[in-house]
Amino acid sequence: MSTAIDQDVILEVRGLTRRFGGLVAVNDISFQVRRGHVLGIIGPNGAGKSTLFNLISGVDRPTSGRVVMEGDDITGKSSSAVVHHGVAKTFQLASPMPHMTVRQILSLAASSSRPRARARDRGMDAYIGEIAEELGLVPLLDAYTEELNVAALRLVDIGRALATDPALLLLDEPFSSLSQDEIERVSTVLRELRARGITMVMVEHKLPALMRLVDEVIVMNFGEQIAHGAPREVVENEQVIEAYLGTKATRMFDAPS
Ligand SMILES: Nc1ncnc2c1ncn2[C@@H]1O[C@H](COP(=O)(O)OP(=O)(O)O)[C@@H](O)[C@H]1O
Ligand SMILES: [Mg+2]
Repeated sequence: MSTAIDQDVILEVRGLTRRFGGLVAVNDISFQVRRGHVLGIIGPNGAGKSTLFNLISGVDRPTSGRVVMEGDDITGKSSSAVVHHGVAKTFQLASPMPHMTVRQILSLAASSSRPRARARDRGMDAYIGEIAEELGLVPLLDAYTEELNVAALRLVDIGRALATDPALLLLDEPFSSLSQDEIERVSTVLRELRARGITMVMVEHKLPALMRLVDEVIVMNFGEQIAHGAPREVVENEQVIEAYLGTKATRMFDAPS
């Protein structure tokens, strides 16, 4: 497909729809993600957030609509093909990979990624070392994943995604099951990734932590996009308050968690 490439737009989603029988899990969703930005996607359980991520990352195929990454139409491509286009996704529930060390997981992800000058020039160990450093995982590189707590597993999962050299990171509930201190630790990592140019789209229910990271927010409800705007605009939107936020809206920007 011919696409006018806007260098500032990294990802474009156009009219994306996914039906499961009679249920429209994702209903005609369109948005653009600007390079270097962090976009938050929020909404009640069952709103279609994970399905939307699956459609973008090649885990599932849309019924209709397009996904365009850096000007390339990636609609319906396999997840490994999508990784080669620079899109990586983390999992809602990071689980241990039995009998694998952190180093092995990161190496496996790096070797299944698009070719990367850094890894080629300096070798796999140096490349893995850099990622581990960025995530604070150096002391755990030779640990087996069964030995790790939930926060370390989450960081390993982010590392696995990073090892594929993404331009765009899709994070599905990166703070779920984490303590306040652990949320701060992961948030710091995400801020650093953003500072080195990685664009992010993030689904999360821990709203105060999400709101501190994002530039824009999309709100979904029953598959539809009901709002899109700056964090402070979105939390004052009546439809969003009714569908999702309730009384949480008033405490969004001063609560500690
Ligand atoms: N593979 C599937 N088959 C049938 N229905 C599905 C499937 N995946 C998701 N759904 C349904 O689609 C809707 C959206 O689900 P999901 O994307 O997981 O929501 P969210 O991540 O916002 O909680 C839900 O009603 C869910 O039951
Ligand atoms: Mg979900």
